[in-house]
Amino acid sequence: MEINLELAQALYIGATVLFILTLGGLSHPESARKGNLYGMLGMAIAIIATLLGPHVTKNLFLIFILMALGGLIGIYLAKKVKMTHMPELVAILHSLVGIAAVLVGYVNFLDVTVSYQGVEKVIHEIEIYIGIFIGAVTFSGSVIAYGKLSRAISGNPLLLPGRHWLNLILIIVICIYGYIFVTTESVTAATTPLIIMTAVSLILGMHLIMAIGGADMPVAVSMLNSYSGWAASATGFMLGNDLLIVVGALVGSSGAILSYIMCQAMNRSFISVIAGGFGTDGPSANIVTSEDQGEVTAVEPEDVCELLLSSKKVMIIPGYGMAVAQAQHTVNKIVKLLQNRKIEVCFGIHPVAGRMPGHMNVLLAEARVPYDIVFEMDEINEDFPGVDTSIIIGANDIVNPSALDDPNSPIAGMPVLECWKGKTSIVLKRSMATGYAGIQNPLFFKDNTRMLFGDAKASMDSVLTALESS
Ligand code: TAP
Repeated sequence: MEINLELAQALYIGATVLFILTLGGLSHPESARKGNLYGMLGMAIAIIATLLGPHVTKNLFLIFILMALGGLIGIYLAKKVKMTHMPELVAILHSLVGIAAVLVGYVNFLDVTVSYQGVEKVIHEIEIYIGIFIGAVTFSGSVIAYGKLSRAISGNPLLLPGRHWLNLILIIVICIYGYIFVTTESVTAATTPLIIMTAVSLILGMHLIMAIGGADMPVAVSMLNSYSGWAASATGFMLGNDLLIVVGALVGSSGAILSYIMCQAMNRSFISVIAGGFGTDGPSANIVTSEDQGEVTAVEPEDVCELLLSSKKVMIIPGYGMAVAQAQHTVNKIVKLLQNRKIEVCFGIHPVAGRMPGHMNVLLAEARVPYDIVFEMDEINEDFPGVDTSIIIGANDIVNPSALDDPNSPIAGMPVLECWKGKTSIVLKRSMATGYAGIQNPLFFKDNTRMLFGDAKASMDSVLTALESS
């Protein structure tokens, strides 16, 4: 069965509408499932329209084999990956979009059946050059991001002397070879500048992400998400595929908007992110992995129960450890129990809590915590002086006061949930280990902080038992 160009284009428009609805759906946990369904439907329509459309005329069998292989690998990864390891998976998937753009660029350039003349030839070659450039930067940057997030390579920023000048020189080299590439007539001779540019772009992508460290990685990952969208869009231009252009632009612009929002939330400069690193040449290099800051006060679940029952207002601050422990369901039971006793409970969510944007919201939605008691950081940060007890469940960096007090801290300037301004903070974690940014947290040593050591789920279960029997 084959469909004509007009029908294929109509199906592409339908798929585009579904992708826009997907983005709308994903903007809220309540509508996220529906958003995902729109996305799957849109992608199915896009694949069918492409396969049956007029452009795919041969190698159908090979395409099916490769699609089945890719699909099986995708299903295996999706089933195997833990929620807490999603950012690594996302980063490595971005790298595939990048390498695809590079390969499509080379195939397009070396394709003898495609021949353009005059201005069209120049435009086509610029498309190829830009596509390969964005693809190579996305590929190598995403591989480094994967390495950093999975801790295969050090999370510390690599801050070479004069690194911004190095980036500038690399970009100038890429521009010069771009000119040589477009003005060279023979395909054989033009291949050399293309290969040199690819190598330089790979180095640029690696260097941009190597310079980012600690708590700033989420913004880098969302920026790479945006780059992968632009790489897909560039591939669309090379192949003359309108759907790929539009979908790439949707991913590219939504990724850029997300990065911008995250930069604002974390008090970082958007331009510095794009340029690699955040202009924190000095402090970020001094990552302190542990530091003795005095004594901590450990408590038992029964003490926590008493503190909670004597509170009028309780704030719950979830972090990465809650996701690891899968404590959200017990937390919801505790919330209900406290509410039944007329104690006001709300949640404070930091924009980079956990390991991916919206991570905590997803977990709380899964446990059916009502949305109207879940607040973003800037909505509730002023409220802490009126809070009797804050429970910090497996969170660390997002409640670290050194972000505000210590200009030499790697997370200096990042807004944090200021729970220490409340009456008492209870921190649930297993040890005195540091969080993602690798720095010790002075909150743990404050007079009004109590530490409840142990796995967050086990600790919350014990607190629930104590609450039920009191
Ligand atoms: P972290 O700073 O990573 O702290 C998590 C804490 O949870 C750790 O100190 C750990 O201490 C504790 N923990 C781990 N497993 C636990 C368990 N089973 N039970 C109890 N506690 C457990 O997390 P956060 O405060 O949510 O901050 C997020 C960090 O990740 C930020 O630095 C952020 O920049 C970064 N990051 C965020 C994202 C996004 S987009 N959200 C993506 C990548 C990186 P113990 O080992 O002592 O238990």
